Amino acid sequence: MNHTDSYDRQTVGRVLAERGQLDGPLMPVLHGVQDALGHVPEQAVAQIAQALNLSRAEVHGVLTYYHHFRTQPVKGPLLQVCRAEACRSMGGEQLLQHAQGAGGCSVEPVYCLGLCAMAPAVMLEGQPYARMTPARLDELLDDVGGPR
Ligand code: FES
Repeated sequence: MNHTDSYDRQTVGRVLAERGQLDGPLMPVLHGVQDALGHVPEQAVAQIAQALNLSRAEVHGVLTYYHHFRTQPVKGPLLQVCRAEACRSMGGEQLLQHAQGAGGCSVEPVYCLGLCAMAPAVMLEGQPYARMTPARLDELLDDVGGPR
C-alpha cells in the first residue's frame, strides 16, 4: 500500500455516499468522517474534494478553520483546555502550556465549557473540571494515565 495513502478510504467513501448529496455537504461529511474514524486524516482531503467537486484548498480550509475537527488520531486521554475569555483571564493559557508540556495526553483547545464562573476549566475524557491549577491537572492526568 502506498504509505501516504494509508487511511481508511472505504469508510470515507461510505460517508461520502451517505452525505455527499446533501445541500452543503462538506460539514456533514467532515463530521461523519470524524465520527467514524475519530479524526479526519489529511490524506482524505483529496478524496473528499474530488467527490464533492471542491478544491483541496476549500476542504483543507474548512477542516483547519473549525477547532472541532482534528487531523491526527487522539493519543492517550483527551484533555480539552478552555481558551475563551474568562478562562484566559484566570490562567487558562498557562494551563494549556503546562498540559502540552506534560505529555501523555492529547491536548485540544476548546472555546467555553460553560464553567466561566469557575475558570479556568478543562474537560478530561468528556468530564468537566473547574478551577483547575497545574498541580491539580498533574494529579488528574496521573489518575487517567494508566492503560485505557
Ligand atoms: S470561558 Fe472557559 S468555561 Fe467559559
